[in-house]
Amino acid sequence: MFEASLYQKRRTQLKSRIKNGLVLILGNNEVAYNYPNNTYKFRQDSNFLYFFGLNLPEFAGLLDVDSGEEILFGNDVDIDDIIWMGAQPSVKELGEKVGIHSTRPFKELAEYVKKAIIAGRKIHFLPPYRYRNMQFLEDVLGLHHSMLKDYASLELVHAVISLRSIKDSYEIEEIRRACNIGYEMHIAAMRNCHAGRKEQEIAGILEGISASYGSMVSFPVILSQNGQTLHNHDHSQTLQKGRMMLTDAGAENDMNYCSDFTRTTPVDGVFDQRQKDIYNIVLACNEKAREISKPGVTYLSIHLNVCKILTEGLKALGLMKGNTDDAVAAGAHALFMPHGLGHMMGLDVHDMEDLDQIYVGYDEKTRPATQFGTASLRMGRELQEGFVVTDEPGCYFIPELIDRWKQQGLHKDFLNYDVIETYKNFGGIRIEDDLLITSDGCRLLGDKRLPVTPEEIEIAVNG
Ligand code: GLY
Ligand code: MN
Repeated sequence: MFEASLYQKRRTQLKSRIKNGLVLILGNNEVAYNYPNNTYKFRQDSNFLYFFGLNLPEFAGLLDVDSGEEILFGNDVDIDDIIWMGAQPSVKELGEKVGIHSTRPFKELAEYVKKAIIAGRKIHFLPPYRYRNMQFLEDVLGLHHSMLKDYASLELVHAVISLRSIKDSYEIEEIRRACNIGYEMHIAAMRNCHAGRKEQEIAGILEGISASYGSMVSFPVILSQNGQTLHNHDHSQTLQKGRMMLTDAGAENDMNYCSDFTRTTPVDGVFDQRQKDIYNIVLACNEKAREISKPGVTYLSIHLNVCKILTEGLKALGLMKGNTDDAVAAGAHALFMPHGLGHMMGLDVHDMEDLDQIYVGYDEKTRPATQFGTASLRMGRELQEGFVVTDEPGCYFIPELIDRWKQQGLHKDFLNYDVIETYKNFGGIRIEDDLLITSDGCRLLGDKRLPVTPEEIEIAVNG
């Protein structure tokens, strides 16, 4: 947990960005996975963590924008809990740790909010994503759960995004620590990338490394020799010589800050020429994004620049043809990279995605694209100092997509389908790093960059 004064400062800033009313930030509860007492590892809501810091279930924070009052709602444990869980700090003590001096039992929250509604006060809440919180809001606000997203406070959403988007030095330090765990995970993946190893064994090793630091992976591990499937959580294959293993994985550290890296490693550590050629194109894309990312530039423009590097590279290999700018404007490159360059990262691996990507990644000036591929870009708006974003270009050969486009005759002026056909068994390559936007550019997060050139990767596999 950070110092109480940091949470106080964040709450003061939040209140100053809201005109009037009550701000309600609900924490998360335990979630059962097969019977009520058997729960998943607890994950606190990131907004609650940001403003109230307590990593415990069944808490809510309430900020009165008009009076300035701040109340923490939560339950003290009783003797039955103590027998099973051990002694716990009181809610009052927990409140003091995050600079809140007024605490109340959780059961008083519903009544408190209902009274405020009767008094005609505005209740600002964020779009809920957990069922228990939806149910709570439905009961208290009298709104059907299907309507809660529409009635969530846009004023609060924008205020939270404006604060959480800029990472302070404490957060950057936590992300650095999370990146260092991610580094260890990926080095382990590379060392194990040998023919005959089961993908599941390697995925399990990565989860174990993350867990050994006290928290968990920042999202379910993506690890497969079928790297052409963008989010492949199937780990049922045994690695085969001649294939590449795409590993997209990161850690959440004990303060719930995230890392997110992708590396693509040839089985047994040797790229063939065709793999190396495509790999070097993706690496050039990754480097280009890092070279041109700086405050004042939109990530959408960086994404499109990267797509041009990809197109140039694929043209040189005979997979694409025609004018590069025209090909990218038409969206032909999206056959090979049907996703966006990156996303914000912080307390969530896709930071603040619960608040809606259109507000997190876009603004009045930069609107989301509708074209296939670029439409999947989560982060498009102008970069600012203190943003943390991922840089994750890729190149994939998705047989089903190739067949469909070919059948439809899509972008025939830019795509050499005859050559593309010969790559249908290639798989996919993605290279992902985490960037901090600085005053005049950006820098990689984590103490050491993961091996990234083909030569570095080959050495990492074979020690
Ligand atoms: N690394 C997974 C993702 O960015 O979606
Ligand atoms: Mn990512």
